Amino acid sequence: MERVRSSEAGAAVEVVAGWLSAAKSVAVLTGAGISAESGIPTFRGPGGVWKTYRAEELATPEGFARDPKLVWEWYDWRRSVIAEAQPNAGHRALAALEARAERFTVITQNVDGLHDRARSRNVLQVHGDIWTLRCIVCGRERRDLCPRLEPLPPYCACGGMERPGVVWFGESLPQGIWEQAVKATKAADLFFVIGTSAVVHPAAGLVYMAKSAGARVVEINVDDTPVSSSVDLCWRASAAQALPQLL
Ligand code: OAD
Repeated sequence: MERVRSSEAGAAVEVVAGWLSAAKSVAVLTGAGISAESGIPTFRGPGGVWKTYRAEELATPEGFARDPKLVWEWYDWRRSVIAEAQPNAGHRALAALEARAERFTVITQNVDGLHDRARSRNVLQVHGDIWTLRCIVCGRERRDLCPRLEPLPPYCACGGMERPGVVWFGESLPQGIWEQAVKATKAADLFFVIGTSAVVHPAAGLVYMAKSAGARVVEINVDDTPVSSSVDLCWRASAAQALPQLL
């Protein structure tokens, strides 16, 4: 298979646009990098939140059991940052590409909901949704779009404590959504991996799954990642700058 490594925008645009127009089924895996230009901090890399905060305290079931208020305060802060953010040109370009495609699925590790707000239609949030609250006693879920929740932690009508409706380290991904993500990945003839460090599994494994199923794989990222050497084209660019060029 042809392998192209390109940081030169013109060459990358031409090659990827050709692959896009030939593709019958496109799947896209996104990560925090696609929302970076909306002002939402990424997790790793310069300015990443895991440089300042400890993932094991804030994004694990054990951390939540130890100190639910601390975890909720952190999620409350993230909800307020996300509430201020707008989808950027990268999110909007993906929605526009979807409108032109036969089959197009966005699989996102992001919990910020910006793909939905950019009007992507077929979005699979494999790490959950920061606007959803789930009762740890009765399991009931509800959406609350208020950026600052009161009180913290919040409680369900049944009296049980609620937790953020996101996937934490050590937890399984929502089964039905994950199955759909795998199906879309295996069916794709073109697969994009955009703005993710590709170190968190099982999501990162979708890249290799797409490759083994015969898809062409294009990475759009400002930096190298562990999947860079396995993809067909590395486009070293910001998502908000690169994606609109494909329209
Ligand atoms: P990371 O923060 O690990 O990675 C962000 C990636 O985006 C890096 O590879 C950056 O180089 C790249 N990047 C930054 N700005 C970019 C831009 N403007 N355009 C393109 N790329 C850019 O975020 P994720 O890979 O999404 O899970 O992290 C995966 C999971 O780990 C998250 O869902 C979260 C996190 O801990 C949990 O909290 C359970």
